[in-house]
Amino acid sequence: MSLFTTFTLPNGLQLPNRLAKAAMEENLANSDQAPSEQLIRLYGAWATGGVGLMITGNVMVDRRAMTGPGGVVLENDAQAVQFERWAKAAKSNGGQVWMQINHPGRQMPANLGQTTVAPSEVPMDLGNFSKQFTPPRELTANEIEDVKNRFIHAAALAEKFGFDGVQIHAAHGYLLSQFLSPISNKRKDQWGGSIENRARLLVNVVKGIRAAVRPQFAVAVKINSADFQRGGFSEDDAKAVVKMLNPLGLDLIELSGGSYEAPAMQGSARDGRTLAREAYFLEFAKDIATVATVPIMVTGGIRRQAVAEQVLATEGISLVGIATALALNPNLPDEWKQGQASVPELRTIKWNNKVLASLAYMAMVKYQLNRVSQGRDPNAQVSPAFALLQQQVGTFFRTRQYRKWMMQE
Ligand SMILES: Cc1cc2nc3c(=O)[nH]c(=O)nc-3n(C[C@H](O)[C@H](O)[C@H](O)COP(=O)(O)O)c2cc1C
Repeated sequence: MSLFTTFTLPNGLQLPNRLAKAAMEENLANSDQAPSEQLIRLYGAWATGGVGLMITGNVMVDRRAMTGPGGVVLENDAQAVQFERWAKAAKSNGGQVWMQINHPGRQMPANLGQTTVAPSEVPMDLGNFSKQFTPPRELTANEIEDVKNRFIHAAALAEKFGFDGVQIHAAHGYLLSQFLSPISNKRKDQWGGSIENRARLLVNVVKGIRAAVRPQFAVAVKINSADFQRGGFSEDDAKAVVKMLNPLGLDLIELSGGSYEAPAMQGSARDGRTLAREAYFLEFAKDIATVATVPIMVTGGIRRQAVAEQVLATEGISLVGIATALALNPNLPDEWKQGQASVPELRTIKWNNKVLASLAYMAMVKYQLNRVSQGRDPNAQVSPAFALLQQQVGTFFRTRQYRKWMMQE
C-alpha cells in the first residue's frame, strides 16, 4: 500500500494520506498562552507540505500545570479567535488537525513556580538534574475528577474551534502516563495497583470525551509501547490498556515509548535493551497491534521513505507518525510523493551526559520550529550547543512571561 492512499477513520472521515505529523511542543504561545501568529504560520507550512494529519504540540488543560513555558493553555473560549485561526491554517490544504491535550503531572519545570501534583509523591529521578523538578504532592480524589473534567472540557472547546479531533497524551511520562506506570503510581485506592486501576483515569477521560463530542470528531490516544524502565509500564501493560480502549470508540492509538527519565522516544533506551535505529517501536507495535481493533500509528525515528513504507506494510499499522523529520522539512510528504529521496537528519550529538544530550536534541528540533514559524528555512546543521543555549535564553524569558501572566489572572 502506498503512503499516499487515503485512510478512512472509524468515524467515517478520510485522511488524504498515511503520513501524520506527530505532536511537537512548540513553545510558541503568545503572552496570553494562546496560539501566536508564529504558531499559526508554522501550521500553514506543514499544511502546504502535504501531510495528511497534523497533531498539534501538547496543549495544557490546566494553566497551573505546564510542560514548559510558552505552552498553549486551553481552559475557556477567551482566545477563541486565535484557536480558530490555528485550526484553519492547519486545515488549509485538505489535511486534518487534531489537538493534543496534556497535563504534565510531575514533569513540570520547578522554575515555573507552581505546585506540582502527581498520582503519588514520587520525585523525578534525573540525577543531578532532578532538582529542576519539584517533588510532587499526591492528587486527591476530587482533584483527579477535576483533571478528568479539564480534559473533557478542552476537547469540547477544540471541537468548537474547528479542530477535527483531539489526541489524549498518555505517553512519555506525563500525568496520564504517570498513572499507568507502577514506578510513579503507588496509590492504594481505585487509581493504583492493578493495570485496570492504573488505566482508570485514561479510560474515564476517553469515555467522557467521546460522550461530549460529535461522533465525527476524532478521539485518539498516545501511549507508550513500554516505559523502558525496570518495574515500569511494560509491553504487557500496553496490551492490556489497548484491550480496555478497544470498545471506547477511538479513531487512533499512537504508539511511542519512554519518558524524561528514559527518553526512548529519542532512540535510546536506558535499560540497555537495543532498539532499532529507525522506526524504534515497530517491533513492539507489531505485537501490540495483534490485540487492537483501533487503527494504530507508530512514531519514532522515521525519516526515510523506505522505512515509512516498511512501517505501513506492517500488519495492523495504519498511519506513520513523524516528528523530527517534519520539523527539518515540512515539505517532506510532497517531496516523497514527487519521488525525491529526501532524508532530513539532524547533526549527531556526541555528548556523554544523557540528560544534556536529550535536552540538546529537543532544542535542535525546536530551533527548526522557530525558524519555520518565522517564515525561514530550517537549518539541520545547527550545533547542539548553540541550539541549547538559544533555547535556555528563550526559556528564561518565556518563564518570566508565564509567571507574570499567572500573577495577572
Ligand atoms: C521538540 C519536540 C517536542 C515534542 N513534543 C511532544 C509533544 O508535545 N507531545 C508528544 O506526544 N510528543 C512530543 N514529542 C515526541 C514526538 O511526538 C515523537 O514521539 C518523537 O520525537 C519521536 O519521533 P521522531 O523520531 O519522528 O521525532 C516531541 C518531540 C520533539 C523532538
